[in-house]
Amino acid sequence: MRALLISLGFAVALAGCQRDAADTATSTPTAKPAAAAPASIDEHSYAEPGKVAIDDLALDLKIDFDARTISGTATYTLDWKDKDARQLVLDTRDLSIDKVEGEGKDGQWQPLQYGLAERDAIFGSKFTIEAPERNAHIRVTYATSPEASGLQWLEPAMTEGKQLPFMFSQSQQIHARSWVPLQDTPSVRYTYSAHVTSRPDVMVLMSADNDPKAARDGDYTFKMPQKIPSYLMAIAAGDLVFKPISERSGVWAEPAMVDKAQAEFADTEKMIETAEALYGPYRWGRYDILVLPPSFPYGGMENPRLTFATPTVIVGDKSLVSLVAHELAHSWSGNLVTFSSAKDAWLNEGVTSYVENRIIEALYGKDQADMESVIARNELAEEFKTVDPKLQVLAEKPGDLKDPDNSSGATVYTKGAWFLQFLEQRFGRADFDAFLRGYFDHFAFQSISSEQFADYAEANLLRKYPGKVSQEEFDEWLYQPGVPATAPKVLARKFGVVDSARLAWLGSGELPPPVITGAWSTQEWVHFIEAMPETLGVEQLAQLDGAYHFTGTPNGEIAQRWYPLAVRSGYTQANDAIAAFLEKIGRRKLIMPTYKALVQTEDGLALAKAVFAKAKPGYHPITTGSVQEMIDGAKPKAAPAKPADAGDAAAAAPAESEKPAIAGDATAPAPDPAPPAN
Ligand code: BES
Ligand code: ZN
Repeated sequence: MRALLISLGFAVALAGCQRDAADTATSTPTAKPAAAAPASIDEHSYAEPGKVAIDDLALDLKIDFDARTISGTATYTLDWKDKDARQLVLDTRDLSIDKVEGEGKDGQWQPLQYGLAERDAIFGSKFTIEAPERNAHIRVTYATSPEASGLQWLEPAMTEGKQLPFMFSQSQQIHARSWVPLQDTPSVRYTYSAHVTSRPDVMVLMSADNDPKAARDGDYTFKMPQKIPSYLMAIAAGDLVFKPISERSGVWAEPAMVDKAQAEFADTEKMIETAEALYGPYRWGRYDILVLPPSFPYGGMENPRLTFATPTVIVGDKSLVSLVAHELAHSWSGNLVTFSSAKDAWLNEGVTSYVENRIIEALYGKDQADMESVIARNELAEEFKTVDPKLQVLAEKPGDLKDPDNSSGATVYTKGAWFLQFLEQRFGRADFDAFLRGYFDHFAFQSISSEQFADYAEANLLRKYPGKVSQEEFDEWLYQPGVPATAPKVLARKFGVVDSARLAWLGSGELPPPVITGAWSTQEWVHFIEAMPETLGVEQLAQLDGAYHFTGTPNGEIAQRWYPLAVRSGYTQANDAIAAFLEKIGRRKLIMPTYKALVQTEDGLALAKAVFAKAKPGYHPITTGSVQEMIDGAKPKAAPAKPADAGDAAAAAPAESEKPAIAGDATAPAPDPAPPAN
């Protein structure tokens, strides 16, 4: 149990680790204040923003690489909404609180009483500050734990340059509370400023105004003048240099990566202009991209003004830049109009995936956009075979999403985007584009629920253009599991060639000529591998490797599909490369399928455990948690998978018509929710 912190002899008695139990955290104010109903209730936060809300946050922090801590003060400017409120309740996880002070009417800072509740495994510790004077400003002095779930500390050896240490945050969904005490709910928005000190040889960046010309001197200041929710708080420090892409955009990366990143992301300005033409001006000033070390647990994170990105999308041919389109799109869907709780995650991720696809279509053509849609929908069909039907619903019900890190990627990203593609198809592109632009303007800098989206859409789409979409059709998308039969179908023209090539090879052993495969991009290779039978013969895999060198590929999207196939097929020649891949990369989406394939057999599980033991010190806490869960839950079969021979494999090859690309029937319920896809 974590140490209980008590100030000024203010005794705190706590029991249990449930959220409700933690509600009794502080010794009590005499009467329970009658709560003004909060605008929306976020079940993943202890905060009570209907009573008092943070309006501005001023941070004064020191980064200590040796101690692996961030420490200092957080000063809140508060908006007391409920006249009876006398407490400020914040979210924390594994923070040590040294002092809490409130500014009195006389301008003097006085200590305030507070209590820190016992830690809940998912939500952390409720932090209750007594503020009988309803102070306009409250200041907390605190330090993070070296194990903070929202921070990763990297030794120099784990960086590209191997000279300087690296540190970065990942706050979404509810990890900001592990490095700043906050009302850690997207329903609260605030401006922030920060003064941050560190060793002088590292550059510090935040989700704020990063001056490309800032001197590297260990003393940095930041300002975020637009109101943002807590999950967009971000910080990174390391050997980071800047290269411009346009007047208002550029890349930050380690020196060895920065040129490659600048070339890969050269179309960023065009992406901004495309999005602006569709949805109105980019409202955040600069748009820069920070390339992180490969242990970053996600593909990208839309931290305002400074997208965080995995280096695994830098593959040399711009084939994975939809990641930038996606994170940039969040500047409208998510950062400007924000979900008010993680149970409405589709409002961020689904709308963004739709916008992302529009940017890709505008810049790289419909073929590219369609290939990306089909790959996503195939993933959805796979995931919906096992994901709890409750989590297949866009507007999730309270209580259904226990841990907000475990939402169904297929639901919130792919079904969410599909919903908007359905609306676009029915209402027509011109009217739907105007609707979406109006929606971003209407709710700009607000946090909203699925119901607010539905009300707005009813007034501005369904009733405005009657006879195109019925209320029942609309509601089925939002409130029912599975994919409605009204879902528009997409076929990727270019995948026809890929399917023919695969089927021909499976039947005859003859590989497609280089004149065909030479023009394939990542998406075509992904589709080539992904629609293979469950297992192949070892000699078949060796033949593919001889021709295409999949084993050892630097392309993580290809590795994500190839290694599980190799594992299922008993192709142990790939084991060394698999181990190297799993040790180097921390992006969950890329590595979890391979771990999942490994833990199916005794031998595979042994390899997974050995690799994990080696990789763990370099993994982010989020990745460590996912892999640990996979290994702990393993039920391996005694015998290793019997590799199918070539004949079986050919017979098992699904015809394109049987492929799950169009997933109207992908609703089979199953007890265990799948791990998140991002
Ligand atoms: N906001 C997400 C990342 C995220 C989601 C972090 C939920 C924590 C909880 C980000 O915008 C995202 O969607 N990233 C994707 C990129 C992809 C869809 C191009 C990822 O990381 O894979
Ligand atoms: Zn996203």
